[in-house]
Amino acid sequence: MPIIYHETSKEFHLYNKQVSYIIEIMENGQLGNLYYGKRIKDRESFAYLHEDEARPLGALTTPEPNPLCLQYTRQEYPAYGTGDYRYGACTIEQQNGSRITDFLYATHTIYEGKKKIEPLPSTYVENKKEATSIEITLYDKVMDTNLILTYTIYEELAAITRQARYVHNGEASIILQNAMSACVDLPDMDYDMVHLSGAWARERYIKTRRLEQGIQSIYSMRGASSAEHNPFLVLKRRNTTENQGEVYAFSLVYSGSYLGQVEVCSHDTTRVLLGIHPDTFTWTLKAGESFQTPEVVMVYSADGMNQMSQTYHTLYRTRLVRGYWRDRERPVLLNNWEATYMDFDEYKILRIAAKAKEAGVELFVLDDGWFGKRDDDDKGLGDWYVNLQKLPNGIAGLSRSVENIGMKFGIWIEPEMVNKDSDLYRAHPDWILSVPERYETPSRQQHVLDFSRKEVVDAIFAMLDKMIGESKISYIKWDMNRYITECYSRAAAANEQGKIMHKYILGVYDLYSRLTTKYPEILFESCSSGGARFDPGMLYFAPQTWCSDDTDAAERLKIQYATSYVYPVSSIGAHVSAVPNHQMNRITPLATRANVAFFGAFGYELDLNKLTTEEMKQVKEQIQFYKNYRKLIQQGIFYRIKSPFEAKDTAWMVVAEDRKEAIAAYYQQLNKVNAGGLRFKLLGLEEDMLYEVTAFGETQKYYGSELMYAGIPINRDQFAEDIGDFASVLFHIKYADN
Ligand code: DGJ
Repeated sequence: MPIIYHETSKEFHLYNKQVSYIIEIMENGQLGNLYYGKRIKDRESFAYLHEDEARPLGALTTPEPNPLCLQYTRQEYPAYGTGDYRYGACTIEQQNGSRITDFLYATHTIYEGKKKIEPLPSTYVENKKEATSIEITLYDKVMDTNLILTYTIYEELAAITRQARYVHNGEASIILQNAMSACVDLPDMDYDMVHLSGAWARERYIKTRRLEQGIQSIYSMRGASSAEHNPFLVLKRRNTTENQGEVYAFSLVYSGSYLGQVEVCSHDTTRVLLGIHPDTFTWTLKAGESFQTPEVVMVYSADGMNQMSQTYHTLYRTRLVRGYWRDRERPVLLNNWEATYMDFDEYKILRIAAKAKEAGVELFVLDDGWFGKRDDDDKGLGDWYVNLQKLPNGIAGLSRSVENIGMKFGIWIEPEMVNKDSDLYRAHPDWILSVPERYETPSRQQHVLDFSRKEVVDAIFAMLDKMIGESKISYIKWDMNRYITECYSRAAAANEQGKIMHKYILGVYDLYSRLTTKYPEILFESCSSGGARFDPGMLYFAPQTWCSDDTDAAERLKIQYATSYVYPVSSIGAHVSAVPNHQMNRITPLATRANVAFFGAFGYELDLNKLTTEEMKQVKEQIQFYKNYRKLIQQGIFYRIKSPFEAKDTAWMVVAEDRKEAIAAYYQQLNKVNAGGLRFKLLGLEEDMLYEVTAFGETQKYYGSELMYAGIPINRDQFAEDIGDFASVLFHIKYADN
């Protein structure tokens, strides 16, 4: 059992082969942290790792002879106000106005497996042996409230999950003003903080900064996890690269407003806090009520960023994503958005679909514009019934026609939104989040439905259920194209308004849950103006996410490279689109557009009728290639090799678990004249295994050690002559028996 409680020292040791996490019950009954990092051998006591030196001006929380100076003590779930002056994990206002709390150890249970925290999404186990959990119950006697901190350690992965649950018993109600999911105190500050930040069409760029005394943070107060900062942060040692160095990573399984904060104190210790953003949250608990925080997934790597990502990929692909599609190969799809935008009719759609079928596409997706009076983005959202002028045979008829062509049919929805010019809004103007007598801020000409209200979710479910029930739907792209403003529910009492931001996301999860339960074989792809809600919470319901509205191959290299820090290849929606590219106006070769999109849930987003015969031939070959290797690509081990954030070239690869097959890709930006030679060094192969490597139309044999340490010579002139700017090449690497 990898969680041990040492009675005499009152210490909990969570460990597996890779990682150790040690908690102590301190003298004052609160929980302290003794160690988090590479696995260390278990022993009865690690008390020597406890630090609480009483420095000048330090307040002593417990009296002599065992004074505890919380300001300098590493804690598990600290609170401000009793001697620790840093930001804490919880703030609770009580009836007398006090916010002082004192959660002391009461009891604990250790068990095999992992419990669900539904309705919130979380990682899970299929077999109890895969993980061990501990619930430590703390108790505040003045409030009469329990705080249950749950930790799970996976047996085979350097991953520990955490969450907190408040159970209030006291007669007097309390108000949670801050309820973080986890706090981790580390003993020094010698880290770089890495996060994935950006904006629409340039989501998740890698940002790195040195930790400094004071506060550095990422957050969203937008009601969605956001394109601005992904709910993920890393502390890595300064010499850490993709392949070596120590990494502590934190990923929040949540899709709403959140805070990820790193505080370095004046004595150079580091505190990490992650959870729901306290500035958009208050939650009143009456006697008998409880509150559950989202889950944080902490991954430790002693061997660089690739290992960190591989741990997240395995965990999220196999123990966060669920259901029918989890282990299945994802279909090659064609989406009509960039082909037609909202300007289509049935004839146009079926013509595009027929050509897609000819190319080998398996799933046709009808994007925005099929419902209500939706000819423009100022009308129709909320009216989830077909526009018969565009599609006289309805979605039912169109979906059957597409199936008759020999493809599956998928559809786009944006269920959380409404345009004021819609039947739904005219019938229920009070269903949007907005404040009486105040301006209702539009964004993309639309408003956010109040998903904290069950009747609103019920109504949307009923409309979608009818449409799905009548038609042949195999895939749903669930979009969300604006953030929340005026977060106020007209159905909630004044003292309940602080709950709305979180209840909204619970409403979104509820609708997902109802649809995925009723239609378990439909493949869901989440989307939010591209990748503005690409987070683990969404992946629990929808196994893939549209990565970005920027479909330019060169831009996508950056976005997909950074997205792969946390999210598995199988979850990254990636399409080949037309040139000049609609976002960048850039022309890239068709081969490179596919070579980039192959490393994702692959598809096309253009009208194939507009291609030349030669291009159509290429597309057919691309689709065949992807079908041949998609299992390897979607489920293999992904290695980043060369970062587009550090150099002009990019390279990455996937390797099969048995190391017998791999696909590697090398991408160049602008062409080089009279260029120097280039050696492409691979990763993750077996040193002594002989491989056949096919690229540039030739096959050669090399041992794994040659491929990894000497590298494959690439002649840049070949790029120059054959391809020009934005050249790329794929390598197929296969075990050779002799
Ligand atoms: C934003 C998405 O990211 C696009 O792919 C497309 O579905 C549009 N919304 C439709 O409005």
